[in-house]
Amino acid sequence: MQYTEKVMEHFMNPHNVGVIENPSGYGKVGNPSCGDIMEIFIKVENDIITDVKFRTFGCASAIASSSVSTELIKGKTVEEALKLTNKKVVEELGGLPPVKMHCSVLAEEAIQLAINDYLSKKEAK
Ligand code: FES
Ligand code: FES
Repeated sequence: MQYTEKVMEHFMNPHNVGVIENPSGYGKVGNPSCGDIMEIFIKVENDIITDVKFRTFGCASAIASSSVSTELIKGKTVEEALKLTNKKVVEELGGLPPVKMHCSVLAEEAIQLAINDYLSKKEAK
């Protein structure tokens, strides 16, 4: 199995790892078959994602995908961030081995959940 240099780079030195206290939005997804979990925390001001952090127990591909995903949505509006697809993330990484594609979906799904969490809290205000 081959990882691109970009994947290795983001795996060895992932960006935006951690937790945000009192996040504007939070999303958690798990894959029940393997138990891998992905959590995303976002901070939003005026519908712009000013900070984002992730935490995962997933594999190298999950870490690299999350690292790239968080970079791609930081500074974007929530609408733009909702359009992020795992296809875009994989492109950005220069490809992932086919058996690892599902790992990049974890990040995308967790981001969408976090944004929906933010939007539903906003509506409730
Ligand atoms: Fe669980 Fe990849 S094996 S998400
Ligand atoms: Fe489970 Fe990649 S996150 S194998």
